Amino acid sequence: MKIAVISDIHANKEAYDRVFDDIEKFKPDKIFCLGDLILAGYNPNYICQKILELKEKMGDDFEIIQGNTDKMVSNCTDELIQKTKEAYPCMGYSLEEDVKITDKKYLNFVRNLPEKKEVVVNGLKIELVHGSVRNQNENIYPNLKDDEVEAMVGDSSADLILCGHTHKPCGYSLKSSKVVINVGSIGRSMTEDKMPVYLWLTVDKNGKFVSEHRVVKYDNIKVSKHILSRGFKFAEDLAGMYIA
Ligand SMILES: [Fe+2]
Repeated sequence: MKIAVISDIHANKEAYDRVFDDIEKFKPDKIFCLGDLILAGYNPNYICQKILELKEKMGDDFEIIQGNTDKMVSNCTDELIQKTKEAYPCMGYSLEEDVKITDKKYLNFVRNLPEKKEVVVNGLKIELVHGSVRNQNENIYPNLKDDEVEAMVGDSSADLILCGHTHKPCGYSLKSSKVVINVGSIGRSMTEDKMPVYLWLTVDKNGKFVSEHRVVKYDNIKVSKHILSRGFKFAEDLAGMYIA
């Protein structure tokens, strides 16, 4: 069983399209999406439409959960915009604009997604989360101590936990025998070269699995220009984050 696991697309059409060119080569039986379809980026409606088309086409072979920024944009208040502007100016101004440009039907879609989901593939129990098992906003970064990661995923009875959120791919094989894989980000990758990252996961008939993080080259300069052209305050700070 071949599964492509994607996360943190963040309204980045160019990254999404190039990653799906790569996914075509894998010919997955299933696709799992770990949330953060929107916030920042430049084309939230395109991404939500493509995800809904995938859901329609793949049926039960497509799984999706909500990310923290899906929740932020779809439940946005003036107070949240203000707080975000104070804490992280470019993100606060982007949030204010993203709420205006994202179609209401797509806001409704991401607002109603589940925060986590458990699926079983050939006997392998897999838990899909955005941040960690205990918190949608928690960071499973590279180079944490095993005990720290264990505390974040301890509530799960799954064999394999798949997460995103930090935009930094990594993996842990814990003493408890759980495996945790952060699949990375398609649309706002925080790796050194800022290129989209996602996961190929293959589960055999006995539930044994192998995985591979895929790095996809794309035109990040073009995306940075798209973001700059949105013209909101501090857009240049956001645009700069796409350049290595
Ligand atoms: Fe994200």
